[in-house]
Amino acid sequence: MKVLGIGGSPRKSSTTDQLVQEVLAGVEGCETEFVSLSGKQIGPCRACLACVETNVCAVKDDMQPLRQKIVDADAYVIGGANFFNNLNGLTHCFMERWYQFRHRESKIVAGKLGVAVGVAGGGDRKPVVDVIRTFFQYNQIDCVGTVDAQGPACCFVCGYGEECKVGAIHRFFGPGTKITEEFTPSLAKQPEAISAARQLGKQLGERLRAYAAGT
Ligand SMILES: Cc1cc2nc3c(=O)[nH]c(=O)nc-3n(C[C@H](O)[C@H](O)[C@H](O)COP(=O)(O)O)c2cc1C
Repeated sequence: MKVLGIGGSPRKSSTTDQLVQEVLAGVEGCETEFVSLSGKQIGPCRACLACVETNVCAVKDDMQPLRQKIVDADAYVIGGANFFNNLNGLTHCFMERWYQFRHRESKIVAGKLGVAVGVAGGGDRKPVVDVIRTFFQYNQIDCVGTVDAQGPACCFVCGYGEECKVGAIHRFFGPGTKITEEFTPSLAKQPEAISAARQLGKQLGERLRAYAAGT
């Protein structure tokens, strides 16, 4: 049994990537693979309907090499970040392109398992996991659970974060907040999120192994 983990943040080594990898680390007795979408060019679904007959997307970009990995996997751990209180665009584009798998009652992804992972700078990760969970529903993927954590808003490193009145530091933590290493959110400072991710991975592995054993 194979589990494919997707980190949908555009940032390299992002909190999203780390949290998805924690879920994968909890999976026992299955093959796991992690792919970060950072640096990849994945555009939106163009609704061209070229995939209707073949269940293969006709758009030529970095989604193409990912197609076989999705087909081969038995479960998906998909993580995204909160951008403007919604799922970030790169993750959304990636998921839109799964339109290629669901024509004419195709069973390419239907019946498989999923875990939704959400990260936000402010604290509201619900919009992120809700969109991923809805995506699972539309694709008849059984959502085993969700896990979330806080990540550092870009304002922690942009150089203007403490003064900028429209940025995340003022908005989420209040004016006068000082940017220090101690105050900067990171996954390592959230042991409860790491533990929840590992537990969810364990649960996912158990479901997959039970399925393989026919129980
Ligand atoms: C364009 C943009 C918009 C954002 N909007 C929000 C937001 O509305 N709410 C929030 O909590 N965080 C917001 N953030 C902060 C990110 O959620 C935060 O940086 C998070 O850690 C990103 O995930 P990552 O660490 O996996 O890259 C935004 C970041 C960017 C770049």
